[in-house]
Amino acid sequence: MLKITKIPFTLGLNLCVFASGSGSNLRAIIEASLSGYIKSKVVLVVSNNSSSGAIETAAKFNIPFIHLSQKLFDTEQELTENILRILVEYKADLIVLAGYMKLLNPKVIKEFRGRIINIHPALLPAYGGKGMFGINVHEAVINAKEKVTGATVHFVDEVYDSGEIILQREVKVSPGDDAASLQEKVLKAEHELYPEVIKLIEEKRI
Ligand code: GRF
Repeated sequence: MLKITKIPFTLGLNLCVFASGSGSNLRAIIEASLSGYIKSKVVLVVSNNSSSGAIETAAKFNIPFIHLSQKLFDTEQELTENILRILVEYKADLIVLAGYMKLLNPKVIKEFRGRIINIHPALLPAYGGKGMFGINVHEAVINAKEKVTGATVHFVDEVYDSGEIILQREVKVSPGDDAASLQEKVLKAEHELYPEVIKLIEEKRI
């Protein structure tokens, strides 16, 4: 009789990455996908900033991208409807926020609850919440003379940086570090952490 061996495999998820800035996390995710480290694929990049590095990166890798910003619509409802429409159109399984500087409308969060993740450049719940973005986070860490900082990937809910934590990566603060050098070190850790979390999600280990 034929013996069937079960091979664990996943088909991967359709990732929709939302990004406003330089897009280095987006790039790390695309590279993880191209190398086969993750099975998931970035099917769409959404940016509120038409001249973002994220859009340039998407174009470079031939990934569909769209500029969706409040400036293009009269009401928030119209923007939200367009975001939801495009997510359905591209069959997004997981929304990946990678330096997205806008708050998602609660309707989007409700529709995709448990399927939206974000990366934050600190060890949440420390150094999260209002005003804690970009270099501010690292300045606060330096000012507090912390010995350790890091990055956090968490699920997104209606409140900034408050959703359930999925995984963190610690980064040592060296005596010579300033906010800029810390930002660089943490960003490097983020580029490993984000693909790792996506792998865990696609393998249903989270
Ligand atoms: C990262 O530090 C991330 O933690 C934060 O925004 C930054 C985005 O950087 N949410 P990049 O655009 O991916 O280079």
